[in-house]
Amino acid sequence: MLELRNLTVKKDGKSIVKNVNLHVNRGEVHVLLGVNGSGKTTLAQAIMGIYPYKGNIFFEGKNIDSLSVWERARLGITLAFQEPARFEGLLVKDYLILSAKEKSMENVKLAIKTVGIPYSILFEEIGENLSGGERKRVELAAVLLMNPKLAILDEPDSGVDILSFSLISDVILRMKSHNSSVLLITHSEDMANVGDKATILCEGKVAITGERNKVKNMFKYSPCPLKR
Ligand SMILES: Nc1ncnc2c1ncn2[C@@H]1O[C@H](COP(=O)(O)OP(=O)(O)OP(=O)(O)O)[C@@H](O)[C@H]1O
Ligand SMILES: [Mg+2]
Repeated sequence: MLELRNLTVKKDGKSIVKNVNLHVNRGEVHVLLGVNGSGKTTLAQAIMGIYPYKGNIFFEGKNIDSLSVWERARLGITLAFQEPARFEGLLVKDYLILSAKEKSMENVKLAIKTVGIPYSILFEEIGENLSGGERKRVELAAVLLMNPKLAILDEPDSGVDILSFSLISDVILRMKSHNSSVLLITHSEDMANVGDKATILCEGKVAITGERNKVKNMFKYSPCPLKR
């Protein structure tokens, strides 16, 4: 359902993502592993259309290279940012209703329960008053409510306490059960266990793609296998 062909992204003249080929099937949770600075966020943002790139991206068999961010979003691709934005003045409940495909407070309540947010947060603004971890949970609830065909989750576990890992895993598995595909960027082994397949990105290149346990074990012992 998602295919990257020779994807290359440059920032300020420097190649950050280099000739990446990657397949994510429908209903698959694909884990993207890589040390800090290996290009994971850059890759995610290129798929969403935030950065220009060379190479090709196919979504459900269709070339989407010429599509803007919102056109990609309309096709069913969404990205949960590593550092979620603040929206001063916007209440959590309104943000979630806006995000939801099926707009009802019942759905919103179910989503916040799934990501472990207390009901009272619905009436707060998405600003400084929320902690980084709370904003990440709100963002995850929004992704769940969007019911996207492809969710790209950029370190949904970072800045969130360890007790929440199982909640985040549940959210991912719930998306999978709706036949959504998930590209999950993480550093956490626990989080990676929800994956079907995994890929190691190393200095912008794909080092290995394959069955999740095999790739995860390789990452543990050699996080950047291309490096000499
Ligand atoms: N505007 C820019 N100009 C030049 N280099 C940049 C720019 N933005 C990011 N980089 C570099 O690109 C590399 C990849 O960054 P990226 O954020 O994609 O990595 P990452 O794998 O997501 O890392 P992390 O695990 O820390 O989130 C880094 O070395 C970073 O310094
Ligand atoms: Mg990143």
